[in-house]
Amino acid sequence: MASRVAELEVLIREEFDGQNRGEATMDSMKSDTISVDQNLEGFIDLWKLMFGFMYSLGLRWAVELEIPDIIAKCGPESTLSAEEIAGFLPSPSPNIDFLSRTLSFLATRGIFSQTLMPNSPIKYGLTPISKWLVKDTDNGGAKEGTFAPWLLLHTHEAVITPWYRLGESILSGSGFPFELVHGKLLFSLAESNPELGRLFNEAMGTYSKILVKDILAAYGDGFRKLEFMSLVDVGGGNGSTISAISRSFPNIKCCNFDLPEVISEAHSYAGVQHIAGDMFVSVPNADAIFMKLILHDWGDEECKKILKNCHEALPKQGKLIMVESVLPEPEAGQSKSSWCEEIGGIRDMIMLSHQRGKERREEEWIKLLQASGFNRYNIISLPSEPLQMSIIEAFPADG
Ligand SMILES: C[S@@+](CC[C@H](N)C(=O)[O-])C[C@H]1O[C@@H](n2cnc3c(N)ncnc32)[C@H](O)[C@@H]1O
Repeated sequence: MASRVAELEVLIREEFDGQNRGEATMDSMKSDTISVDQNLEGFIDLWKLMFGFMYSLGLRWAVELEIPDIIAKCGPESTLSAEEIAGFLPSPSPNIDFLSRTLSFLATRGIFSQTLMPNSPIKYGLTPISKWLVKDTDNGGAKEGTFAPWLLLHTHEAVITPWYRLGESILSGSGFPFELVHGKLLFSLAESNPELGRLFNEAMGTYSKILVKDILAAYGDGFRKLEFMSLVDVGGGNGSTISAISRSFPNIKCCNFDLPEVISEAHSYAGVQHIAGDMFVSVPNADAIFMKLILHDWGDEECKKILKNCHEALPKQGKLIMVESVLPEPEAGQSKSSWCEEIGGIRDMIMLSHQRGKERREEEWIKLLQASGFNRYNIISLPSEPLQMSIIEAFPADG
């Protein structure tokens, strides 16, 4: 037993030392370098997973205190001591010891870098992880945009609480965790809670900004074919996506369609007509329908209803352009999941815990499309790798 404990201590020390040397990477959850008893490996992994919330919530307070922005403002490669960072905080007497210990803890996971020099305080810098949380993308942030609002949304108390009801949802056989807690889905709650609503829109907006750039780049020819025709964005929210399409293709007659309470708050955009309605009842007639991140919010029967309404609204030669994730097929014989599978799994759990939806594999998309009268389809992967999104183009006619 004593030798087991000693072995475990060595294991923890080696892993900790490796990460302090700046070797912490996205893969550091996996104990892959040390050949020890699987029990010990299991223990280490369990320990990290059990306390995984400390990383999520540690990241949250780092963003709330704007630590990534503070470092980035001093220059993208700069490193600052806890005392220097504290000088930028909105408090006359911040606790520098708490700040330093928390930054060092986050550095063990590669969220910040830490540099240890003899006789000087530890200096903290940005890493590939924290660069995604800098708000000003020209100033040390990831070139694609910030994910800070996403982090704040997904670690919001109202959004985390449904996780406590997941077991109850499984046992009941029906009922989604978010509805068990709040009595409504995330985007409905966001409408009645201004603070959450602002965060939700900001998070969707930053995500959309990255996606729209990719969509316009990857599907330019598809939109060009729609010039002088009509295009409706079903569930288009505040209309920012369709307005970006309209700016790039001003000859397309663009329309934004969403629930009345959303449309009443939407900005007006040149070249975009807003229409209020309910996609479960009908969608406006158009030569083409665009739907971004809609079907993943819903179960199969609800998706079929929406798709059938889209089919009815389209002419025979029309087309449906959906932007959704197409989950990768698991590779047979692989004992470890790829990062694509891990991110796919996370996305699916978001849909399970916040909505009534799910992420789908290609085979599941085909089944839904065929059941709703769309017999032909193309899948075009979007270039931005981390988001792993695709355009699913579907046609009502056999062609
Ligand atoms: C996840 S958001 C996606 C918004 C936008 N397409 C985007 O990608 O940013 C889902 C949208 O569907 C809208 N929605 C929900 N139920 C709807 C309904 N019954 N009819 C029309 N739109 C609806 C919501 O108001 C919200 O704007």
